Amino acid sequence: MLFMVVWYIGEGKQCKTFSLPSPLNSHHNGKYVSTESTPSETADTGFSPEEWARMLKALDWPTPDQPITDIAMTTCPACSTFSILGQKEKYRVGDELYVHIVAKDHNNTAKRYGGDFFLTKLYSSKLKASVFGEVLDHRNGSYLARLLLPWVGKAQVAVRLVHSSEAIQVFKKYLNSDVVRHFYWGHFEGTGPNGTRIKETVSCNLKWGQADGWKTGNCCCDYRDPRTGDEWQCETPPTLPCDAWVYHERGGFKNPLTSFEQELLARTLTNQGIKGDNRILNVLPSTANIGATEKCQPGMPTPVPAGFYLKDVWTSRVCNIRHFKPKDMEKCLSNKLIYLMGDSTLRQWFEYFTKKVPSLKQINMHKNSKTGPRMAVSMDNNIIIRWRSHGLPLSFLKMPVVDLHYISNQIDDLAGGPHTVIVFDIFAHLVFHPLTFYAHRVLKIRQAVLALLNRAPQTKVIIKSGNTGGSKDIYANDWYYIQLNIIMREAFRDLPVIYMDVFQMTSCHYARENIHPPAVIIANEIDIFLSFVCPI
Ligand SMILES: *[C@@H]1O[C@H](CO)[C@@H](O)[C@H](O)[C@H]1NC(C)=O
Ligand SMILES: *[C@@H]1O[C@H](CO)[C@@H](O)[C@H](O)[C@H]1NC(C)=O
Ligand SMILES: *[C@@H]1O[C@H](CO)[C@@H](O)[C@H](O)[C@H]1NC(C)=O
Repeated sequence: MLFMVVWYIGEGKQCKTFSLPSPLNSHHNGKYVSTESTPSETADTGFSPEEWARMLKALDWPTPDQPITDIAMTTCPACSTFSILGQKEKYRVGDELYVHIVAKDHNNTAKRYGGDFFLTKLYSSKLKASVFGEVLDHRNGSYLARLLLPWVGKAQVAVRLVHSSEAIQVFKKYLNSDVVRHFYWGHFEGTGPNGTRIKETVSCNLKWGQADGWKTGNCCCDYRDPRTGDEWQCETPPTLPCDAWVYHERGGFKNPLTSFEQELLARTLTNQGIKGDNRILNVLPSTANIGATEKCQPGMPTPVPAGFYLKDVWTSRVCNIRHFKPKDMEKCLSNKLIYLMGDSTLRQWFEYFTKKVPSLKQINMHKNSKTGPRMAVSMDNNIIIRWRSHGLPLSFLKMPVVDLHYISNQIDDLAGGPHTVIVFDIFAHLVFHPLTFYAHRVLKIRQAVLALLNRAPQTKVIIKSGNTGGSKDIYANDWYYIQLNIIMREAFRDLPVIYMDVFQMTSCHYARENIHPPAVIIANEIDIFLSFVCPI
Protein backbone atom coordinates (compact mmCIF):
# COMPACT_ATOMS: atom_id res chain seq x y z
CA MET A 1 0.00 0.00 0.00
CA LEU A 2 1.52 3.32 -1.04
CA PHE A 3 0.20 5.06 1.99
CA MET A 4 2.16 6.96 4.53
CA VAL A 5 1.22 8.64 7.75
CA VAL A 6 3.54 11.13 9.35
CA TRP A 7 2.67 12.81 12.58
CA TYR A 8 3.82 16.30 13.26
CA ILE A 9 3.54 17.69 16.72
CA GLY A 10 3.18 21.43 16.58
CA GLU A 11 1.15 23.58 18.93
CA GLY A 12 -0.58 20.47 20.12
CA LYS A 13 -2.00 19.96 16.62
CA GLN A 14 -1.60 16.68 14.81
CA CYS A 15 -1.55 16.67 11.11
CA LYS A 16 -1.70 13.76 8.80
CA THR A 17 0.38 13.79 5.66
CA PHE A 18 -0.76 11.99 2.55
CA SER A 19 1.40 10.53 -0.07
CA LEU A 20 -0.01 11.05 -3.53
CA PRO A 21 -2.49 8.47 -4.70
CA SER A 22 -1.08 5.62 -6.65
CA PRO A 23 -2.89 4.97 -9.91
CA LEU A 24 -2.65 1.24 -9.67
CA ASN A 25 -2.60 -0.94 -6.69
CA SER A 26 -2.13 -4.65 -6.68
CA HIS A 27 -4.71 -5.05 -3.92
CA HIS A 28 -7.34 -3.18 -5.82
CA ASN A 29 -7.31 -4.66 -9.31
CA GLY A 30 -6.14 -1.64 -11.21
CA LYS A 31 -8.20 0.83 -9.21
CA TYR A 32 -6.28 3.59 -7.62
CA VAL A 33 -6.47 4.17 -3.93
CA SER A 34 -4.91 7.11 -2.20
CA THR A 35 -5.93 6.77 1.40
CA GLU A 36 -7.92 4.17 3.20
CA SER A 37 -10.33 6.61 4.71
CA THR A 38 -12.46 7.94 1.90
CA PRO A 39 -14.24 5.87 -0.72
CA SER A 40 -14.32 8.82 -3.14
CA GLU A 41 -10.60 8.48 -3.57
CA THR A 42 -10.99 5.20 -5.37
CA ALA A 43 -11.36 5.42 -9.09
CA ASP A 44 -10.24 3.75 -12.23
CA THR A 45 -8.12 6.38 -13.92
CA GLY A 46 -6.46 4.67 -16.85
CA PHE A 47 -3.24 6.35 -15.77
CA SER A 48 -0.33 3.93 -16.03
CA PRO A 49 2.27 3.35 -13.29
CA GLU A 50 4.95 4.73 -15.64
CA GLU A 51 2.94 7.91 -16.14
CA TRP A 52 2.43 8.11 -12.42
CA ALA A 53 6.14 7.72 -11.69
CA ARG A 54 6.90 10.46 -14.20
CA MET A 55 4.46 12.78 -12.46
CA LEU A 56 5.93 12.13 -9.03
CA LYS A 57 9.39 12.79 -10.40
CA ALA A 58 8.26 16.08 -11.92
CA LEU A 59 6.73 17.11 -8.58
CA ASP A 60 9.86 16.36 -6.62
CA TRP A 61 11.28 19.48 -4.98
CA PRO A 62 14.35 19.47 -2.72
CA THR A 63 14.02 20.56 0.89
CA PRO A 64 16.49 21.45 3.65
CA ASP A 65 18.69 18.58 4.81
CA GLN A 66 18.57 19.75 8.42
CA PRO A 67 15.94 20.95 10.86
CA ILE A 68 15.44 24.70 10.59
CA THR A 69 15.64 26.28 14.01
CA ASP A 70 16.92 29.76 13.32
CA ILE A 71 15.85 32.35 10.78
CA ALA A 72 19.57 33.01 10.11
CA MET A 73 19.71 29.60 8.43
CA THR A 74 17.26 30.63 5.72
CA THR A 75 18.14 31.95 2.29
CA CYS A 76 18.83 35.64 2.43
CA PRO A 77 17.72 37.51 -0.69
CA ALA A 78 20.10 40.42 -0.04
CA CYS A 79 23.11 38.08 0.36
CA SER A 80 22.41 35.81 -2.62
CA THR A 81 23.89 36.75 -5.99
CA PHE A 82 23.86 35.90 -9.66
CA SER A 83 26.45 36.18 -12.40
CA ILE A 84 26.41 35.66 -16.15
CA LEU A 85 28.63 32.78 -17.22
CA GLY A 86 31.01 32.96 -20.17
CA GLN A 87 30.72 36.65 -20.94
CA LYS A 88 30.86 37.30 -24.64
CA GLU A 89 31.76 40.36 -26.67
CA LYS A 90 28.71 40.04 -28.85
CA TYR A 91 25.36 38.40 -28.37
CA ARG A 92 23.08 37.45 -31.18
CA VAL A 93 19.40 36.54 -31.34
CA GLY A 94 19.05 32.82 -30.64
CA ASP A 95 22.05 32.68 -28.28
CA GLU A 96 21.56 31.28 -24.84
CA LEU A 97 22.72 32.96 -21.70
CA TYR A 98 23.66 30.94 -18.64
CA VAL A 99 23.34 32.55 -15.25
CA HIS A 100 24.85 31.15 -12.08
CA ILE A 101 22.89 31.83 -8.90
CA VAL A 102 24.46 31.38 -5.48
CA ALA A 103 22.10 31.14 -2.52
CA LYS A 104 23.43 32.32 0.84
CA ASP A 105 21.99 32.33 4.32
CA HIS A 106 21.68 35.35 6.61
CA ASN A 107 25.22 34.75 7.89
CA ASN A 108 26.38 35.20 4.31
CA THR A 109 27.40 31.55 4.13
CA ALA A 110 26.78 29.68 0.88
CA LYS A 111 23.96 27.20 1.27
CA ARG A 112 24.57 23.48 0.89
CA TYR A 113 21.12 22.33 -0.19
CA GLY A 114 18.65 23.40 -2.84
CA GLY A 115 14.94 24.04 -3.02
CA ASP A 116 14.93 27.82 -3.25
CA PHE A 117 12.24 29.09 -5.57
CA PHE A 118 13.89 31.52 -7.99
CA LEU A 119 12.24 33.10 -11.00
CA THR A 120 14.43 34.55 -13.69
CA LYS A 121 13.78 36.51 -16.79
CA LEU A 122 15.45 38.55 -19.46
CA TYR A 123 13.70 41.83 -20.15
CA SER A 124 13.73 45.28 -21.62
CA SER A 125 11.29 47.78 -20.16
CA LYS A 126 11.70 50.08 -23.11
CA LEU A 127 10.91 47.37 -25.67
CA LYS A 128 8.16 45.87 -23.49
CA ALA A 129 10.04 42.64 -24.05
CA SER A 130 10.63 39.71 -21.71
CA VAL A 131 11.24 36.00 -21.65
CA PHE A 132 10.95 33.41 -18.91
CA GLY A 133 14.11 31.56 -17.83
CA GLU A 134 14.48 27.96 -16.81
CA VAL A 135 16.20 27.38 -13.46
CA LEU A 136 18.09 24.17 -12.77
CA ASP A 137 18.57 23.38 -9.09
CA HIS A 138 21.95 21.76 -8.46
CA ARG A 139 20.71 20.84 -4.99
CA ASN A 140 23.87 22.18 -3.39
CA GLY A 141 22.97 25.86 -2.99
CA SER A 142 23.83 26.81 -6.54
CA TYR A 143 21.45 27.15 -9.46
CA LEU A 144 21.85 27.49 -13.18
CA ALA A 145 19.41 29.61 -15.15
CA ARG A 146 19.13 29.34 -18.90
CA LEU A 147 17.82 32.29 -20.84
CA LEU A 148 17.17 32.59 -24.54
CA LEU A 149 18.00 35.87 -26.28
CA PRO A 150 14.97 36.11 -28.58
CA TRP A 151 14.85 39.78 -29.66
CA VAL A 152 17.15 42.35 -31.22
CA GLY A 153 18.15 45.21 -28.95
CA LYS A 154 18.75 45.74 -25.28
CA ALA A 155 18.20 43.08 -22.67
CA GLN A 156 18.89 42.64 -18.98
CA VAL A 157 18.75 39.70 -16.57
CA ALA A 158 16.58 39.76 -13.45
CA VAL A 159 16.49 37.10 -10.75
CA ARG A 160 14.17 37.07 -7.79
CA LEU A 161 13.90 34.82 -4.84
CA VAL A 162 10.18 34.18 -4.60
CA HIS A 163 10.47 31.93 -1.53
CA SER A 164 13.38 30.37 0.33
CA SER A 165 13.63 26.60 0.44
CA GLU A 166 12.73 26.86 4.14
CA ALA A 167 9.49 28.63 3.22
CA ILE A 168 8.81 26.03 0.52
CA GLN A 169 9.20 23.34 3.14
CA VAL A 170 6.33 24.94 5.06
CA PHE A 171 4.19 25.14 1.93
CA LYS A 172 4.94 21.55 1.13
CA LYS A 173 3.98 20.39 4.59
CA TYR A 174 0.55 22.01 4.40
CA LEU A 175 -0.13 21.19 0.75
CA ASN A 176 0.41 17.54 1.56
CA SER A 177 -1.67 17.60 4.71
CA ASP A 178 -5.33 17.77 5.60
CA VAL A 179 -4.92 20.65 8.05
CA VAL A 180 -7.77 23.02 7.25
CA ARG A 181 -6.78 26.39 5.82
CA HIS A 182 -10.06 27.42 4.28
CA PHE A 183 -13.75 26.80 4.92
CA TYR A 184 -17.00 27.70 3.17
CA TRP A 185 -20.57 28.62 4.05
CA GLY A 186 -23.61 26.56 3.30
CA HIS A 187 -26.92 28.42 3.26
CA PHE A 188 -29.99 26.33 3.98
CA GLU A 189 -33.50 27.52 3.25
CA GLY A 190 -36.87 25.94 3.77
CA THR A 191 -40.30 26.26 5.26
CA GLY A 192 -40.65 25.99 9.02
CA PRO A 193 -43.48 24.25 10.89
CA ASN A 194 -45.62 27.42 11.03
CA GLY A 195 -45.23 28.14 7.30
CA THR A 196 -42.55 30.86 7.45
CA ARG A 197 -39.38 30.81 5.37
CA ILE A 198 -36.38 29.80 7.50
CA LYS A 199 -32.75 30.52 6.61
CA GLU A 200 -29.86 28.83 8.38
CA THR A 201 -26.13 29.12 7.66
CA VAL A 202 -23.44 26.64 8.66
CA SER A 203 -19.85 25.99 7.69
CA CYS A 204 -18.94 23.43 5.03
CA ASN A 205 -15.85 21.87 3.55
CA LEU A 206 -14.38 19.31 1.28
CA LYS A 207 -14.49 15.84 2.73
CA TRP A 208 -11.10 14.36 2.15
CA GLY A 209 -9.02 12.57 4.72
CA GLN A 210 -9.66 13.40 8.33
CA ALA A 211 -9.83 17.18 8.03
CA ASP A 212 -12.34 18.47 10.53
CA GLY A 213 -10.71 21.60 11.95
CA TRP A 214 -13.48 23.70 10.37
CA LYS A 215 -16.34 22.15 12.32
CA THR A 216 -17.81 24.05 15.19
CA GLY A 217 -21.34 22.75 15.50
CA ASN A 218 -23.26 19.58 14.85
CA CYS A 219 -21.89 17.15 12.35
CA CYS A 220 -22.87 16.69 9.48
CA CYS A 221 -24.72 16.66 6.20
CA ASP A 222 -22.81 14.63 3.60
CA TYR A 223 -23.10 15.19 -0.11
CA ARG A 224 -21.61 12.84 -2.62
CA ASP A 225 -21.56 13.36 -6.35
CA PRO A 226 -22.65 10.03 -7.77
CA ARG A 227 -20.55 10.40 -10.90
CA THR A 228 -17.24 11.75 -9.60
CA GLY A 229 -17.48 10.36 -6.09
CA ASP A 230 -16.52 13.79 -4.72
CA GLU A 231 -17.71 14.41 -1.21
CA TRP A 232 -18.69 17.63 0.47
CA GLN A 233 -19.77 18.14 4.03
CA CYS A 234 -21.73 20.79 5.89
CA GLU A 235 -22.51 21.04 9.56
CA THR A 236 -26.05 19.98 10.34
CA PRO A 237 -28.28 23.07 10.29
CA PRO A 238 -30.18 23.71 13.56
CA THR A 239 -33.64 22.78 12.25
CA LEU A 240 -33.63 22.38 8.46
CA PRO A 241 -32.91 19.04 6.81
CA CYS A 242 -29.75 18.33 4.79
CA ASP A 243 -31.58 18.57 1.47
CA ALA A 244 -32.41 22.22 2.18
CA TRP A 245 -28.88 23.25 1.13
CA VAL A 246 -29.54 26.02 -1.41
CA TYR A 247 -26.52 28.36 -1.63
CA HIS A 248 -22.78 27.97 -1.47
CA GLU A 249 -20.43 30.79 -0.47
CA ARG A 250 -16.77 31.25 0.29
CA GLY A 251 -16.07 31.30 3.99
CA GLY A 252 -12.87 32.26 5.70
CA PHE A 253 -9.32 31.21 6.30
CA LYS A 254 -7.76 29.40 9.20
CA ASN A 255 -4.11 30.11 9.87
CA PRO A 256 -2.29 26.88 10.72
CA LEU A 257 1.17 28.42 11.01
CA THR A 258 3.37 28.39 14.08
CA SER A 259 4.99 31.71 14.87
CA PHE A 260 8.31 30.44 13.53
CA GLU A 261 6.69 29.31 10.28
CA GLN A 262 5.13 32.75 10.07
CA GLU A 263 8.61 34.27 10.30
CA LEU A 264 9.85 32.04 7.50
CA LEU A 265 7.16 33.47 5.25
CA ALA A 266 7.82 37.10 6.20
CA ARG A 267 7.30 39.70 3.47
CA THR A 268 10.88 40.92 3.75
CA LEU A 269 12.20 37.46 2.83
CA THR A 270 9.68 36.94 0.04
CA ASN A 271 9.66 37.89 -3.63
CA GLN A 272 12.86 39.92 -3.49
CA GLY A 273 15.10 40.67 -6.44
CA ILE A 274 18.65 39.50 -5.87
CA LYS A 275 21.81 41.38 -6.77
CA GLY A 276 23.97 40.39 -9.70
CA ASP A 277 25.21 41.11 -13.13
CA ASN A 278 22.47 43.35 -14.43
CA ARG A 279 24.51 44.97 -17.19
CA ILE A 280 22.61 45.83 -20.33
CA LEU A 281 23.36 43.44 -23.15
CA ASN A 282 22.98 44.53 -26.72
CA VAL A 283 21.62 41.66 -28.77
CA LEU A 284 22.42 41.73 -32.47
CA PRO A 285 20.29 40.30 -35.27
CA SER A 286 20.91 36.84 -36.61
CA THR A 287 19.34 34.42 -39.04
CA ALA A 288 18.05 32.23 -36.19
CA ASN A 289 14.33 31.54 -36.37
CA ILE A 290 12.90 32.14 -32.91
CA GLY A 291 9.13 31.98 -33.41
CA ALA A 292 7.67 28.59 -34.32
CA THR A 293 6.26 28.21 -37.83
CA GLU A 294 4.43 24.89 -37.46
CA LYS A 295 0.66 24.84 -37.70
CA CYS A 296 -0.93 24.81 -34.22
CA GLN A 297 -2.26 21.36 -33.44
CA PRO A 298 -3.25 19.32 -30.41
CA GLY A 299 -0.50 17.42 -28.63
CA MET A 300 2.30 19.92 -29.26
CA PRO A 301 4.85 20.02 -26.45
CA THR A 302 5.63 23.28 -24.63
CA PRO A 303 9.31 24.21 -24.54
CA VAL A 304 10.98 26.57 -22.08
CA PRO A 305 10.73 29.32 -22.96
CA ALA A 306 7.32 28.81 -24.54
CA GLY A 307 7.65 32.19 -26.22
CA PHE A 308 8.51 35.80 -25.46
CA TYR A 309 7.05 39.28 -25.42
CA LEU A 310 8.20 42.05 -27.71
CA LYS A 311 6.20 45.30 -27.65
CA ASP A 312 3.75 43.38 -25.48
CA VAL A 313 3.02 40.89 -28.24
CA TRP A 314 3.71 37.23 -27.54
CA THR A 315 5.64 35.21 -30.10
CA SER A 316 5.21 31.50 -29.48
CA ARG A 317 7.86 28.81 -29.73
CA VAL A 318 5.13 26.15 -29.71
CA CYS A 319 3.49 26.91 -33.04
CA ASN A 320 2.53 29.66 -35.43
CA ILE A 321 0.49 32.17 -33.46
CA ARG A 322 -1.58 34.69 -35.39
CA HIS A 323 -2.77 37.98 -34.04
CA PHE A 324 -6.49 38.37 -34.41
CA LYS A 325 -8.35 41.60 -35.05
CA PRO A 326 -11.98 41.68 -33.84
CA LYS A 327 -13.34 40.78 -37.28
CA ASP A 328 -10.90 37.86 -37.58
CA MET A 329 -11.89 36.67 -34.11
CA GLU A 330 -15.50 36.68 -35.23
CA LYS A 331 -14.66 34.76 -38.38
CA CYS A 332 -12.66 32.18 -36.44
CA LEU A 333 -15.41 31.70 -33.87
CA SER A 334 -18.25 31.46 -36.34
CA ASN A 335 -20.15 28.16 -36.28
CA LYS A 336 -18.50 27.26 -33.00
CA LEU A 337 -19.80 26.24 -29.62
CA ILE A 338 -17.26 27.33 -27.05
CA TYR A 339 -17.48 25.97 -23.53
CA LEU A 340 -15.33 27.72 -20.96
CA MET A 341 -15.25 25.79 -17.68
CA GLY A 342 -13.20 27.01 -14.80
CA ASP A 343 -12.51 29.94 -12.58
CA SER A 344 -12.50 33.72 -12.82
CA THR A 345 -9.34 33.73 -14.96
CA LEU A 346 -11.33 31.96 -17.66
CA ARG A 347 -14.24 34.32 -17.04
CA GLN A 348 -11.75 36.97 -18.16
CA TRP A 349 -11.66 35.23 -21.53
CA PHE A 350 -15.44 35.31 -21.72
CA GLU A 351 -15.44 39.01 -20.95
CA TYR A 352 -12.73 39.64 -23.51
CA PHE A 353 -14.74 37.90 -26.23
CA THR A 354 -17.92 39.81 -25.44
CA LYS A 355 -15.98 43.05 -25.54
CA LYS A 356 -14.13 42.36 -28.79
CA VAL A 357 -16.23 40.20 -31.11
CA PRO A 358 -18.51 42.64 -32.92
CA SER A 359 -21.72 40.61 -33.30
CA LEU A 360 -21.45 38.71 -30.02
CA LYS A 361 -24.16 39.65 -27.51
CA GLN A 362 -24.33 38.58 -23.95
CA ILE A 363 -27.63 37.08 -22.83
CA ASN A 364 -28.99 38.25 -19.51
CA MET A 365 -29.06 35.04 -17.49
CA HIS A 366 -30.25 36.85 -14.35
CA LYS A 367 -27.17 35.67 -12.50
CA ASN A 368 -24.45 37.46 -10.66
CA SER A 369 -21.83 38.27 -13.30
CA LYS A 370 -19.00 37.05 -11.06
CA THR A 371 -20.45 33.63 -10.37
CA GLY A 372 -22.25 32.99 -13.64
CA PRO A 373 -23.16 30.94 -15.52
CA ARG A 374 -22.83 33.30 -18.46
CA MET A 375 -23.61 32.99 -22.11
CA ALA A 376 -23.04 35.06 -25.24
CA VAL A 377 -24.35 34.44 -28.74
CA SER A 378 -23.95 35.78 -32.22
CA MET A 379 -27.03 35.05 -34.31
CA ASP A 380 -25.30 36.40 -37.44
CA ASN A 381 -22.29 34.13 -37.12
CA ASN A 382 -23.78 31.22 -35.24
CA ILE A 383 -21.51 31.50 -32.22
CA ILE A 384 -22.31 30.37 -28.70
CA ILE A 385 -19.86 31.02 -25.90
CA ARG A 386 -20.63 29.84 -22.38
CA TRP A 387 -18.70 30.24 -19.20
CA ARG A 388 -19.48 28.21 -16.12
CA SER A 389 -17.51 27.96 -12.91
CA HIS A 390 -15.95 24.66 -11.98
CA GLY A 391 -17.41 22.68 -9.11
CA LEU A 392 -16.52 22.57 -5.43
CA PRO A 393 -14.26 23.58 -3.83
CA LEU A 394 -14.87 27.08 -5.06
CA SER A 395 -14.20 30.29 -3.14
CA PHE A 396 -16.82 32.43 -4.82
CA LEU A 397 -19.56 34.83 -3.80
CA LYS A 398 -22.86 33.35 -2.65
CA MET A 399 -24.34 31.30 -5.49
CA PRO A 400 -26.92 28.55 -5.97
CA VAL A 401 -25.61 25.07 -5.31
CA VAL A 402 -27.32 23.86 -8.49
CA ASP A 403 -25.04 26.15 -10.53
CA LEU A 404 -21.97 24.22 -9.42
CA HIS A 405 -20.80 21.59 -11.87
CA TYR A 406 -17.74 19.42 -11.83
CA ILE A 407 -15.76 19.80 -15.05
CA SER A 408 -15.65 16.06 -15.65
CA ASN A 409 -19.45 15.81 -15.42
CA GLN A 410 -19.89 18.74 -17.74
CA ILE A 411 -17.60 17.12 -20.29
CA ASP A 412 -19.44 13.82 -19.91
CA ASP A 413 -22.64 15.65 -20.84
CA LEU A 414 -21.30 17.06 -24.11
CA ALA A 415 -21.66 15.31 -27.45
CA GLY A 416 -18.64 17.16 -28.84
CA GLY A 417 -17.77 17.30 -32.53
CA PRO A 418 -15.96 19.47 -35.05
CA HIS A 419 -17.83 22.60 -33.97
CA THR A 420 -17.25 22.14 -30.27
CA VAL A 421 -14.33 23.70 -28.43
CA ILE A 422 -13.89 23.16 -24.74
CA VAL A 423 -11.49 25.09 -22.56
CA PHE A 424 -10.97 24.41 -18.90
CA ASP A 425 -8.78 25.55 -16.07
CA ILE A 426 -8.73 24.63 -12.41
CA PHE A 427 -6.07 25.77 -9.97
CA ALA A 428 -6.56 28.81 -7.74
CA HIS A 429 -9.47 27.36 -5.75
CA LEU A 430 -7.85 23.99 -5.20
CA VAL A 431 -4.73 25.07 -3.33
CA PHE A 432 -6.47 25.07 0.04
CA HIS A 433 -6.79 21.31 -0.08
CA PRO A 434 -4.37 18.39 -0.30
CA LEU A 435 -2.44 17.94 -3.52
CA THR A 436 -3.58 14.34 -3.57
CA PHE A 437 -7.13 15.62 -3.94
CA TYR A 438 -6.11 17.78 -6.90
CA ALA A 439 -4.51 14.76 -8.58
CA HIS A 440 -7.74 12.84 -8.10
CA ARG A 441 -9.76 15.68 -9.62
CA VAL A 442 -7.48 16.03 -12.63
CA LEU A 443 -7.47 12.31 -13.36
CA LYS A 444 -11.28 12.37 -13.33
CA ILE A 445 -11.23 15.16 -15.90
CA ARG A 446 -8.71 13.20 -17.94
CA GLN A 447 -11.05 10.24 -18.03
CA ALA A 448 -13.90 12.46 -19.23
CA VAL A 449 -11.69 14.00 -21.93
CA LEU A 450 -10.60 10.57 -23.15
CA ALA A 451 -14.22 9.49 -23.43
CA LEU A 452 -15.14 12.72 -25.23
CA LEU A 453 -12.29 12.34 -27.73
CA ASN A 454 -13.35 8.78 -28.31
CA ARG A 455 -16.96 9.67 -29.13
CA ALA A 456 -16.06 12.87 -31.00
CA PRO A 457 -12.37 12.95 -31.98
CA GLN A 458 -12.67 16.29 -33.74
CA THR A 459 -13.57 18.13 -30.55
CA LYS A 460 -10.92 20.66 -29.60
CA VAL A 461 -9.83 20.44 -25.97
CA ILE A 462 -7.74 23.27 -24.58
CA ILE A 463 -6.32 23.38 -21.08
CA LYS A 464 -5.29 26.71 -19.65
CA SER A 465 -2.63 26.34 -16.98
CA GLY A 466 -2.70 28.33 -13.77
CA ASN A 467 -1.10 31.76 -14.00
CA THR A 468 0.95 33.53 -11.38
CA GLY A 469 -0.91 35.41 -8.69
CA GLY A 470 -0.11 38.18 -6.27
CA SER A 471 -0.41 36.13 -3.09
CA LYS A 472 2.66 34.78 -1.39
CA ASP A 473 1.15 33.21 1.70
CA ILE A 474 0.14 29.84 3.11
CA TYR A 475 -3.25 30.05 1.39
CA ALA A 476 -2.13 30.89 -2.12
CA ASN A 477 1.27 31.22 -3.76
CA ASP A 478 2.95 30.58 -7.09
CA TRP A 479 4.74 27.52 -5.83
CA TYR A 480 1.38 25.85 -5.22
CA TYR A 481 0.31 26.84 -8.73
CA ILE A 482 3.48 25.30 -10.16
CA GLN A 483 2.80 22.02 -8.37
CA LEU A 484 -0.78 21.95 -9.62
CA ASN A 485 0.32 22.85 -13.14
CA ILE A 486 2.77 19.95 -13.13
CA ILE A 487 -0.01 17.52 -12.27
CA MET A 488 -2.24 18.90 -15.01
CA ARG A 489 0.52 18.94 -17.61
CA GLU A 490 1.72 15.44 -16.82
CA ALA A 491 -1.80 14.02 -16.68
CA PHE A 492 -2.50 15.27 -20.20
CA ARG A 493 0.91 14.76 -21.77
CA ASP A 494 0.64 12.47 -24.82
CA LEU A 495 -3.08 13.18 -25.22
CA PRO A 496 -4.34 15.03 -28.31
CA VAL A 497 -5.23 18.16 -26.36
CA ILE A 498 -3.73 21.63 -26.17
CA TYR A 499 -1.94 22.58 -22.98
CA MET A 500 -1.42 26.33 -22.73
CA ASP A 501 1.34 27.32 -20.35
CA VAL A 502 0.20 30.77 -19.25
CA PHE A 503 2.37 30.67 -16.12
CA GLN A 504 5.40 31.59 -18.21
CA MET A 505 3.38 34.38 -19.85
CA THR A 506 2.36 36.00 -16.57
CA SER A 507 5.56 35.42 -14.61
CA CYS A 508 7.84 37.23 -17.06
CA HIS A 509 5.53 40.14 -17.88
CA TYR A 510 6.25 43.54 -16.35
CA ALA A 511 2.66 44.02 -15.13
CA ARG A 512 2.21 43.90 -11.40
CA GLU A 513 1.40 40.35 -10.37
CA ASN A 514 -2.29 39.71 -10.08
CA ILE A 515 -4.28 36.51 -10.06
CA HIS A 516 -6.37 38.24 -12.73
CA PRO A 517 -3.84 39.14 -15.42
CA PRO A 518 -4.27 42.51 -17.16
CA ALA A 519 -5.98 42.75 -20.57
CA VAL A 520 -2.66 42.90 -22.44
CA ILE A 521 -1.85 39.37 -21.27
CA ILE A 522 -5.39 38.06 -21.82
CA ALA A 523 -5.22 39.38 -25.39
CA ASN A 524 -2.12 37.26 -26.01
CA GLU A 525 -3.71 34.20 -24.39
CA ILE A 526 -6.71 34.60 -26.68
CA ASP A 527 -4.46 34.84 -29.75
CA ILE A 528 -2.92 31.49 -28.81
CA PHE A 529 -6.35 30.00 -28.22
CA LEU A 530 -7.69 31.20 -31.58
CA SER A 531 -4.55 30.02 -33.36
CA PHE A 532 -5.39 26.51 -32.21
CA VAL A 533 -9.06 26.86 -33.10
CA CYS A 534 -8.28 28.29 -36.54
CA PRO A 535 -4.75 27.17 -37.41
CA ILE A 536 -2.97 28.07 -40.64
C1 LIG B 1 25.88 32.61 12.24
O1 LIG B 1 27.09 33.13 12.77
C2 LIG B 1 27.14 33.17 14.18
C3 LIG B 1 28.41 33.89 14.58
O2 LIG B 1 29.52 33.40 13.87
C4 LIG B 1 27.06 31.75 14.71
O3 LIG B 1 27.06 31.77 16.11
C5 LIG B 1 25.77 31.10 14.24
O4 LIG B 1 25.72 29.75 14.62
C6 LIG B 1 25.68 31.19 12.73
N1 LIG B 1 24.34 30.75 12.34
C7 LIG B 1 24.15 29.94 11.32
C8 LIG B 1 22.73 29.59 11.03
O5 LIG B 1 25.04 29.48 10.64
C1 LIG C 1 27.06 22.25 -7.19
O1 LIG C 1 26.74 21.31 -8.21
C2 LIG C 1 27.13 21.71 -9.52
C3 LIG C 1 26.62 20.67 -10.49
O2 LIG C 1 26.93 19.39 -10.08
C4 LIG C 1 28.64 21.89 -9.57
O3 LIG C 1 29.04 22.31 -10.86
C5 LIG C 1 29.04 22.93 -8.53
O4 LIG C 1 30.47 23.03 -8.49
C6 LIG C 1 28.54 22.55 -7.16
N1 LIG C 1 28.77 23.67 -6.24
C7 LIG C 1 29.22 23.49 -5.03
C8 LIG C 1 29.40 24.72 -4.22
O5 LIG C 1 29.46 22.39 -4.58
C1 LIG D 1 -42.43 30.72 13.13
O1 LIG D 1 -41.27 29.92 13.37
C2 LIG D 1 -40.08 30.66 13.40
C3 LIG D 1 -38.92 29.68 13.51
O2 LIG D 1 -39.29 28.49 14.07
C4 LIG D 1 -40.09 31.64 14.55
O3 LIG D 1 -38.90 32.39 14.57
C5 LIG D 1 -41.26 32.58 14.34
O4 LIG D 1 -41.35 33.45 15.44
C6 LIG D 1 -42.58 31.82 14.20
N1 LIG D 1 -43.63 32.73 13.80
C7 LIG D 1 -44.83 32.68 14.32
C8 LIG D 1 -45.79 33.66 13.79
O5 LIG D 1 -45.11 31.89 15.18
